[in-house]
Amino acid sequence: MLTLRGRGPRRGAALSNLGIVKDGAVLVRDGRIAAAGVRSKVEAMPEAHGAEKLDVEGRVVLPGFVDSHTHLIHAASRAEEYELKIAGATYEEIARKGGGILNSVKKLRAATAADLKARAMAALREFAAYGTTTVEAKSGYGLDVTSELKILGLHQELNREQPLEIVSTFLGAHVVPAEYRHTPGGPARYVSLLVNRLIPEVAERKLAEFCDVFCDRGAFSLAQSEQVLEAGANHGLAPRLHAEQLSRTGATLLAVEMGAASCDHLEQVKAADIRALAKSKTVATLLPGCDFHLGLKQYAPARALIDAGAIVGLATDYNPGTSPTLSMPMVLSLACTQLRMTPAEAITAATINAAYSLRRDKEIGSIEVGKLADLAVFDVQDYREIPYYFGVNHCWMTVKKGEIVYRTDGKSSIC
Ligand code: NIG
Ligand code: FE
Repeated sequence: MLTLRGRGPRRGAALSNLGIVKDGAVLVRDGRIAAAGVRSKVEAMPEAHGAEKLDVEGRVVLPGFVDSHTHLIHAASRAEEYELKIAGATYEEIARKGGGILNSVKKLRAATAADLKARAMAALREFAAYGTTTVEAKSGYGLDVTSELKILGLHQELNREQPLEIVSTFLGAHVVPAEYRHTPGGPARYVSLLVNRLIPEVAERKLAEFCDVFCDRGAFSLAQSEQVLEAGANHGLAPRLHAEQLSRTGATLLAVEMGAASCDHLEQVKAADIRALAKSKTVATLLPGCDFHLGLKQYAPARALIDAGAIVGLATDYNPGTSPTLSMPMVLSLACTQLRMTPAEAITAATINAAYSLRRDKEIGSIEVGKLADLAVFDVQDYREIPYYFGVNHCWMTVKKGEIVYRTDGKSSIC
């Protein structure tokens, strides 16, 4: 059992400390962890008497994965662009021709809420099947008042109607929508719509906890990003940021300056950005699925970030354009082979550090008394086999708040 017990988010050498208990047990009551530790001790506790026993027969148990960066609600894949990319077109070239995010916006606006919900429900069942118990979800394929509110409303409904926790982020600043692009002053008017209309309404209706911006070439400038994040922060939406993915814009320094919860992507960071992250409480969330899917060679400098002392996190970035995967085990495999993180570092980044980036490290991300009983059980002998096997699913059971939400034999509350 990997408990990940201990204080706060992990930096540097502490990322390797999984708090392993060789023959472990967890006592669960009312969805929370009542005891966790050596099996003989837990079983001998008076509170354990009469408890229903579930023997996982020597498999590896760890905290459920916390996927801290996804674009959960989208209408369809972009398989048509996948072929163009393979033939050599870059992500930005496709976007400039009206593909990319705007392609997904067109599809989402045309989709019914019922269809979007059904697609997201199916995806959430898959997230659970790969050991994920908490999913951050961003809006950002609507980009008008009705469609953005439709997405955020779906986050709320999904939170109520299925067992995984959805943490909602407002990403109205994903790109400037087509109808604002080509008129003078259009982009500024779109930013003003976000700042003066959407952010206040999203906050008022409690439709999101976080506000995110895609700060990059072809998306939003540093100044626009600051404007949007300031407005979000003024309305109680904590900042997170898509930063230095395609080009180095200075977004990381802005994220640190604003005390952002997370700064994500980071393929193009410079030494000064790494130093700033290392001194901050902003999580450096790495998304290696994007570089893998886009066939890019330049991954984020995970080793330099860890060695400098940054709080490194990992997430899928589940989305139809750059990372169509919802498998955290696959992300761990990429973290190990491409980012040169060790299996232990990758697991810490995908659990307690990711929980910290969602401001939930007191509730989830480790197996400790008082926390939610969110667990993933893998059918492996050694935790290192979780990233070692890739492209196959060894998750055997997933537990959310003490309820089995996935089990390989199909006996679960949502399957
Ligand atoms: O995180 N970079 C911006 N947003 C997404 C991609 C969205 C898309 O291409 O649809 C990302 O990579
Ligand atoms: Fe993203």
